Amino acid sequence: MNEVPVHGSIIMDGNGRWAKARGKERVYGHAAGVESVRACTEAAVEAGVKYLSLYAFSEENWNRPEAEVNRLMELMMEAIRNEMKTLLDNGVRFVVLGNRARLSERLNGAIDDLMGKTAACSRMTLVIFLSYSGKWDILQAMKRAVAERGAEGVRSMETADFDRYLVTAGIPDPDLLIRTSGEERISNYLLWQCAYTEFVFTDVLWPDFRKPEFRAALAEYASRDRRYGKVK
Ligand code: FPP
Repeated sequence: MNEVPVHGSIIMDGNGRWAKARGKERVYGHAAGVESVRACTEAAVEAGVKYLSLYAFSEENWNRPEAEVNRLMELMMEAIRNEMKTLLDNGVRFVVLGNRARLSERLNGAIDDLMGKTAACSRMTLVIFLSYSGKWDILQAMKRAVAERGAEGVRSMETADFDRYLVTAGIPDPDLLIRTSGEERISNYLLWQCAYTEFVFTDVLWPDFRKPEFRAALAEYASRDRRYGKVK
């Protein structure tokens, strides 16, 4: 039996379909999805998860209609504003990872502020992947490695040396990855970091994924037999 995952990660999917089923605009689903973010963060802290990471916005998501992109960024601003006290009260460190050069100055400022204020929190780290994609991460890591080490230095690199150039440097690889809404794919998420991650797929749409569903995923993870390519 596995214990509680050190790092649990979620591809939050199905907000649009959830809204459509109710005859509403897609953004209505995203707003409802923020409640699931809050619920899962609480459930993760309660369970003793040390890192909870959420795929909030991919590099590919920039291609969505402008109004939807703007609303998602606005929801992020609102969440930062509304949740600061709760995060601090519960000892949750807030971290945003991704291609932050594409975010607005205003949003980057709010992110830096919250990251600074929660930097010393140690109960759990909440990682929000924003403007992130796995291929982008591997490419930026490769460029930084070459710039820092030169061609000769790169030639002698081991996989563990590469880890520290990824934006996730210092964060353990996910033990568990949950994807909601019935889709069963990685969608350019943590490609390098998910080498030995256990995947849990559920048909539940993200706005309906709350504490009981999160706990069920932890139970499913606990029952898995992790072998890391070895024979037991
Ligand atoms: C996937 O549903 C969801 C997203 C792309 C955005 C997730 C964002 C939030 C829950 C809100 C803000 C986040 C935080 C961390 C405060 P979809 O739109 O792809 O749904 P569909 O597949 O049904 O169309």
